[in-house]
Amino acid sequence: MKALDGIKVLDFTHVQSGPTCTQLLGWFGADVIKVERPHVGDATRKQLVDKPGADSLYFTMLNHNKRSIELDSKNATGKAVLTRLIEESDVLVENFAPGALDRMGFGWEAVHEINPRLIMASIKGFGAGKYADCKVYENVAQCTGGSASTTGFLDGPPLVTGAQIGDSGAGLHLCLGIVTALFQREKTGKGQRVSVAMQDAVLNLVRVKMRDQQRLAVGALKEYSQHGAGIPFGDTTPRAGNDSGGGQPGKILKCKGWEDDPNAYTYFIIQEAVWGNVCDLIGEAAWKTAKGYATLPERLDKLDEIFARIEEWTQTKTKFEVLEACNPLDIPVGPILSMKELAEDEALYATGTMVEVDHPERGAYLSVGCPIKLSASPAEVVRAPLLGEHTEEILRDLGYSNEDINKISASGAIGEKSCV
Ligand code: COA
Repeated sequence: MKALDGIKVLDFTHVQSGPTCTQLLGWFGADVIKVERPHVGDATRKQLVDKPGADSLYFTMLNHNKRSIELDSKNATGKAVLTRLIEESDVLVENFAPGALDRMGFGWEAVHEINPRLIMASIKGFGAGKYADCKVYENVAQCTGGSASTTGFLDGPPLVTGAQIGDSGAGLHLCLGIVTALFQREKTGKGQRVSVAMQDAVLNLVRVKMRDQQRLAVGALKEYSQHGAGIPFGDTTPRAGNDSGGGQPGKILKCKGWEDDPNAYTYFIIQEAVWGNVCDLIGEAAWKTAKGYATLPERLDKLDEIFARIEEWTQTKTKFEVLEACNPLDIPVGPILSMKELAEDEALYATGTMVEVDHPERGAYLSVGCPIKLSASPAEVVRAPLLGEHTEEILRDLGYSNEDINKISASGAIGEKSCV
């Protein structure tokens, strides 16, 4: 038995943000029915294509553990089928552009009337306000949520990050909202709306930079290397390069081979509790007691000098040798792992975080599995559905006969399907 066994999710999502949410619900055991436009489907099926004719990795890696129905929700017969699906579902998830669902005739009031127990969950770019009408993609959310202005180096432009905090970040937030609403429904018997704005999700994830915005009012941010470099602070949280985001100073340092390998680097954190171990490791035992070095507040204006000295040591070791030397001394370090190294890491396959999946069009491909581990409900990754692969099966589940399905098909609501 899986945690969400018996929960039916009507998945009206597309691209990345919504699909990451419904994929998680599928991994937790929900029956996720992805509604797709006949002959077209989710646009990502045919984006960034690496194997002509096959669904893309973009689509297949975001839509595991789902069934697909082709259904035109603007066609009158299609609307009637969708109404049946809404009656039978526990959750409807969507991330259409603002207003699209209302134009279809399936806004909150309408679906709540069809099924008062239904939880309707939406992702939009922005919450209510002046930007509410905007269409939004990942990097727009990173820019408007405060991430880009605080990412990058002081002397460079704002940067977006590879972590999809706008899309997958919003999907994660929405998933938590949905399971919380399901929990509340256990007590009230009623559905509710769950809304996540991508801007809000990003802002939540850069919360510590809003912390720093307020700390600026009372002086310099002394743990930023900008402070040690003597560069005055302005009136907003600056870009901090690879400085640590917290109270324990850190930096990315070169390791052996950095000249040829773009990922021969390590993150190195000087945790106050193990300052003595750091000093011993790099051959600077005198720093343990020296005035200006012995305590963190004294050291804050010398971080560049101290990290330069540590880097002299890390450059004599590979990033993995640094880890092996530091870990027994409780010094927190992180080798910069490339996508290739992660794709080849057997430990990640052993835990199911990386998986190999078979697909009828693509053959075997690698994917990231479920990162959330439930001991009594382990996720099993099932390949993404082909477009409309389960249309007939889902219609039959709804009680439609062969004759009904032929009529629905003739109406153009599900593409060309015929049952004998
Ligand atoms: N049958 C019939 N019509 C369908 C359908 C179906 N099964 N599924 C979708 N459509 C229609 C919609 O009703 C809409 O029609 P309308 O504009 O005439 O009302 C149309 O397809 C396109 O939907 P839309 O959401 O506007 O897609 P888009 O490709 O123009 O925009 C986004 C894509 C992502 C920018 C937009 O959906 C968006 O801003 N979403 C919210 C934020 C978000 O999640 N962004 C991140 C995506 S990773």
